[in-house]
Amino acid sequence: MKTLIKGGKVVNADGSRMADVLLDGEHIAKVAESLDTPADRVIDASGKLVIPGGIDVHTHFDLPFGGTVSSDNFDTGQKAAAFGGTTCHIDFAIQISGRPLKEAIDLWHQKADGKATIDYGFHLAITEMNDSVMNELATLPDLGVTSLKLFMAYKNVFMVDDETLFRTMMAARDIGLLTCVHAENGDVIDVLVAQLLAEGKTDPVYHGKSRPHWAEAEATGRAAAFAAISGAPLYVVHLTCASALDQVRMARAKGVKVAAETCPQYLFTTEEDLARPNFEGAKYVCSPPVRTEADQAALWGGLTDGNLACVSTDHCSFNFKDQKELGRDDFTKIPNGLPGIEDRMMVLYHYGVTGSKLSPERWVELCATNPAKIFGLYPRKGTIAEGADGDVVVWDPAKEHTISAKTHHMNVDYNLFEGLKVKGVPSIVFSAGRLLVEDGEFKGETGAGRFIKRDLIHDVV
Ligand code: URP
Ligand code: ZN
Ligand code: ZN
Repeated sequence: MKTLIKGGKVVNADGSRMADVLLDGEHIAKVAESLDTPADRVIDASGKLVIPGGIDVHTHFDLPFGGTVSSDNFDTGQKAAAFGGTTCHIDFAIQISGRPLKEAIDLWHQKADGKATIDYGFHLAITEMNDSVMNELATLPDLGVTSLKLFMAYKNVFMVDDETLFRTMMAARDIGLLTCVHAENGDVIDVLVAQLLAEGKTDPVYHGKSRPHWAEAEATGRAAAFAAISGAPLYVVHLTCASALDQVRMARAKGVKVAAETCPQYLFTTEEDLARPNFEGAKYVCSPPVRTEADQAALWGGLTDGNLACVSTDHCSFNFKDQKELGRDDFTKIPNGLPGIEDRMMVLYHYGVTGSKLSPERWVELCATNPAKIFGLYPRKGTIAEGADGDVVVWDPAKEHTISAKTHHMNVDYNLFEGLKVKGVPSIVFSAGRLLVEDGEFKGETGAGRFIKRDLIHDVV
């Protein structure tokens, strides 16, 4: 199947130009001015942008968490991603404490098999290290998994101690694995949680109070110090605040191999949302928590000055009804996580590009190119270039769309951006040369998405 996309503006991280794009089979075969190659389908992209498919490197589909399971699985979550112009994601396979890592990877393959419509990869989240797990790390690249995640919070659930984190980073460095961290001081948080509950403070707003920005900044600085000492590359997931960003900026200025991401919820919602009445604040409970407008401004600064490399979603959806509601009497029982995979590219385009905070090229860099470069997918993905995968989005910069839970495709009963009218939406989406979404209709094939084995990672951008 050959598809010729004519007359659009091709936007890559390193520049934009008017060019035609020929998709042939699974790949981009040619990018050039005025292509007249015969094709099965010719798309008129005049007035549109032609961009690499979005890559969301932080998702949790089908994740058991807090006595329930995240509401999007690989079927619903990937379809929602496609509607939002995201054609690849990396999900976290979580080790069952102390068990072989391969078991987690096998389990996550079972979750995805037969359901996938877009390409995907796995990180491996380590919850308990022992000698045999340490030896197993070297086998991960053959399984296509080249990044780890360790949690510095969620005590007695996922959290690891400093020795485990540091030893893992040293081993990861030698193998060519990237260590990702959830950076919050879990010990401090546990003390604060106990104190708040003892005082009868059980509302969602106390979730935020129990996880102060200093607890995130301290852990971010600690992980960055481990990266400096070990020489291992580090990726800080879901960074939320000015003080943690300061730690990243300082480490990077000293040449430490640290990169960080933030997520839409930290750019567009605040602790005031956590304080919404009638338990509505539960809709905003995630960790680390949403912060302040001053933090949002700092994060936008990081996106423009290069100290934040990616915007991913940490998509971990729980319905308000029956799932978030588990914590009506105790904020610690509210499952942590927010939906966003469908909205990421649109809200960032709307506020970032239409709102003149980001160039279209930087938007592409944050949503596709840097994620691909950092996580061993580039130049196969994250760029419109000859030989790359045919993951291509024809983006309509003039079209408006009102975001709503009534019309979104995520399997969750609320939307963080309810009622927001965005300008700039994906109009046609291709994954590996296959039509996936066109004018708001799903045209893809369930089961056609592929697990992508990623390259070794020795550095970050
Ligand atoms: O609240 C969040 N972020 N839930 C998902 C798990 C994690 O920490 O990334
Ligand atoms: Zn996390
Ligand atoms: Zn996460």
